Amino acid sequence: NNYLIIMAGGIGSRFWPMSTPETPKQFLDILGTGQTMIQQTITRLNGIVPIENVFIVTGSRYKALINEQLPEVKDEQILMEPCMRNTAPCIAYAAYKIYQRNPEANIVVAPSDHLITNEKEFRSVISEGLKFVAADDVLLTLGIHPHRPETGYGYIQAGEKMEDAMNKVKAFKEKPNLETAKAYLSEGSYFWNAGIFLWSAKSIIKAFENYLPKVAEIFEAGSEKYYTIDEQGFIDEQFPLCENISIDYGIMEHADNIYVMPADFGWSDLGTWGSLWEKREKDEQGNSVVGDAVKTYDCENNIITIPDGRKVVLQGIKDCIVTEANGVFMVCRKSEEQRIKEFQKES
Ligand code: GDD
Ligand code: MG
Repeated sequence: NNYLIIMAGGIGSRFWPMSTPETPKQFLDILGTGQTMIQQTITRLNGIVPIENVFIVTGSRYKALINEQLPEVKDEQILMEPCMRNTAPCIAYAAYKIYQRNPEANIVVAPSDHLITNEKEFRSVISEGLKFVAADDVLLTLGIHPHRPETGYGYIQAGEKMEDAMNKVKAFKEKPNLETAKAYLSEGSYFWNAGIFLWSAKSIIKAFENYLPKVAEIFEAGSEKYYTIDEQGFIDEQFPLCENISIDYGIMEHADNIYVMPADFGWSDLGTWGSLWEKREKDEQGNSVVGDAVKTYDCENNIITIPDGRKVVLQGIKDCIVTEANGVFMVCRKSEEQRIKEFQKES
């Protein structure tokens, strides 16, 4: 009864120029592990979710990449959105389809672009979480102990401690400003939302009916079309009518049956160059260099990603992102990396 929904429709614009709208970061081997991020997402859950129960929701233009990177996933498991409507409609589409096939289904929802270093612990957390959501009408989130006032994540405030490692959630706060994030960090009862969710198909559908009724109505109406040749036509016509909203704003901030399971499995959202710099191996000067013909002199704390064979000499460069990819050469201060989205648009 275990299913997996992989959200793989983001364009990873903060990782430009390595990640482009044509090949976003989930389809890249960002850390040089030999597997792309979406391949890792599936491998990580081997044995917990059977491959035929995996649904990947993505933009139609990424179908060919998925076929190429995940030949074991059949076409009917790739759900194609005609346009981006953020994560709530993406999850609703897959959840209604899964419910129709198996009303007793339990679902793991996973982003396709996260790094998890302790897979053994991850698998044990997921197995325990699946048992928990199978037994009750609950929405389960995984909470990571925060160690910096990150404004790019959602925060979960734990309430009273319940059975086992599960905590009832008092409040869910998506992406605070810096001041608020600092307050959360010192307060002590806040976790980072890992963006991985567990619930039964029944519970998430009930939550859509309660909090996003228009979205629920659209996918409910599709029940006669799913798994038939009329499905894509229905989706192409109806999906754009969904409101553009994330699961966090649309449901998690409102529902009152949310639990958090504290988890520690070496998680990070490789959302930005700065987060990649934190993860990658660095030399004594704090430079993380990929590229076999790069030479650095008096350089500190840079993240450098240059294709092999390309000769680059850097002197006196500090705290920068230096990269060449997809015909673009970019040097940008790490502290200004939020502007990369803007550079991408303008180039
Ligand atoms: N299919 C589809 N369609 N997938 C999407 C879409 C869409 O329109 N938009 C985003 N995704 C995918 C992305 O590819 C990514 O795998 C995942 O959904 C999450 O989207 P992000 O855009 O990366 O979200 P975020 O990182 O800003 O915030 C979320 O994740 C954080 C942790 O990584 C939130 O859940 C935060 O609360 C959380 O802390
Ligand atoms: Mg993300």
